[in-house]
Amino acid sequence: MNVSIIGTGYVGLVTGACLADIGNHVFCLDVDPRKIAILKDGGIPIYEPGLEGVVQSNVEAGRLDFSTDIQASVAHGDIQFIAVGTPPDEDGSADLQYVLAAARNIGRYMESFKVVVDKSTVPVGTADKVTAVIQEELDKRGRGDLGFSVVSNPEFLKEGAAVDDFMRPDRIVIGVSGDDNGRRALASMRELYAPFNRNHERTRVMDVRSAEFTKYAANAMLATRISFMNELANLADRVGADIEAVRQGIGSDPRIGYSFLYAGTGYGGSCFPKDIQALTRIARENGQTLRVLESVEAVNDEQKTVLTDKVFARFGKDLSQHCFALWGLAFKPNTDDMREAPSRVVISALLRAGARIVAHDPIAVEETRRVLALDFADAPQLLDRISYAKSPMAAVEGADALIIVTEWKAYRSPNLERLKTTMKSPVVFDGRNLYEPAIMTSAGVIYHGIGRNSLH
Ligand code: NAD
Ligand code: UGA
Repeated sequence: MNVSIIGTGYVGLVTGACLADIGNHVFCLDVDPRKIAILKDGGIPIYEPGLEGVVQSNVEAGRLDFSTDIQASVAHGDIQFIAVGTPPDEDGSADLQYVLAAARNIGRYMESFKVVVDKSTVPVGTADKVTAVIQEELDKRGRGDLGFSVVSNPEFLKEGAAVDDFMRPDRIVIGVSGDDNGRRALASMRELYAPFNRNHERTRVMDVRSAEFTKYAANAMLATRISFMNELANLADRVGADIEAVRQGIGSDPRIGYSFLYAGTGYGGSCFPKDIQALTRIARENGQTLRVLESVEAVNDEQKTVLTDKVFARFGKDLSQHCFALWGLAFKPNTDDMREAPSRVVISALLRAGARIVAHDPIAVEETRRVLALDFADAPQLLDRISYAKSPMAAVEGADALIIVTEWKAYRSPNLERLKTTMKSPVVFDGRNLYEPAIMTSAGVIYHGIGRNSLH
């Protein structure tokens, strides 16, 4: 099939490359000429394991093309995916300007029936807005006769595992209207996704609004589990229990399950924070307060300071005589994404308390420099006190304590003897509960996890 993807970011590039990989002819459009130039040059503008290979092989096979030419993109795809950003507005609601600009371009240039797919995460009712904008453009051109249908097909991939998630989805949610154009669109969507359903039907067909809602509900549920466990972890620290034992104890109940119950320094990333805000905003606009979700967000904001609270409790509020090693900067492993990363809150608190930091991250250092320049626009001189080490062990040299914010694989089994002799004092604040407290303690390390303060 001929497919166009509007917006060649994380979701658009993964969607485009993976749909090309199963034999479709895909045209990826972006308004950012820098991104398109990198892709045309054979590179990829984001760090995502496995993606570069899929992109390159499909470009070579002639099934994947990149361009900034809007008219050519609209002409190419019978199916037009909208995969542009939906960042939070000042009031927390999703900013739909990019989605509606993409819709307007489709209406402006289409010459035949189009299936228009909302892949971006959007509030309930957005498909109606997209429909209205396209129709308005068609009417302006006197081409109101051209048919189209807007489908909601939200994306559930995770950064760092995006290609795998796309190729092996848990479910494919398709929201369509019940009219003739909707049925025609559903037939196209079923044909497009047929290769993903070979051994097992994964498609969930529903009405458009329910599909839009499903995406927010999924992220809200996952974020709720995390904040719930973080709150319990803080209580475990007070009462002398081990949250990791508790996780295993409750996770063995299949109604609960083990995953997404890891306590830590709070969730970050480009999606949970903005989607929770957007959903609570949608509720308020509709006369309802989502009390659970508003608490999920508040708990998460506070959780990002739990590590530094522990640091202050040990070293005092004035850290000008102290140097800290920081392992992990990205909001999670296998990405260089720093959006809403808890490390930014940790760095800000430490530098503003006068500390020095030597940080390590396998790939997010460049991105960290970029975002910290913005975070410290009010006090750029403080950035002289953070430097970046080439290896985890180089970062801990002479440090008063090691703080772990992201659970990169490279941090899983440190040489504890070397750690002790390299550091000024062997204190570890583990924001991702990477280590067993008993093993650390018996090795002579002073260990602070999140909710791991059991009394045995
Ligand atoms: P992104 O910022 O990485 O990419 C968006 C791209 O769209 C940018 O390259 C931008 O230049 C381009 N763009 C903006 N307006 C355009 C226009 N009118 N025409 C063409 N291109 C345009 O964003 P993302 O992370 O890919 O997220 C896209 C959407 O998918 C969001 O709604 C997000 O919530 C959702 N989502 C993201 C993830 C994820 O892991 N990143 C997962 C699931 C869903
Ligand atoms: C998340 C969802 O997992 C995807 O299904 C969804 O498509 C995506 O948002 C989106 O809508 O964009 P992502 O943000 O890439 O994906 O990363 P996650 O693996 O979900 O992690 C999010 C944050 O939660 C990270 O900061 C991670 O450290 C934290 N987390 C995760 C925990 O603190 N504890 C856990 O048990 C799991």
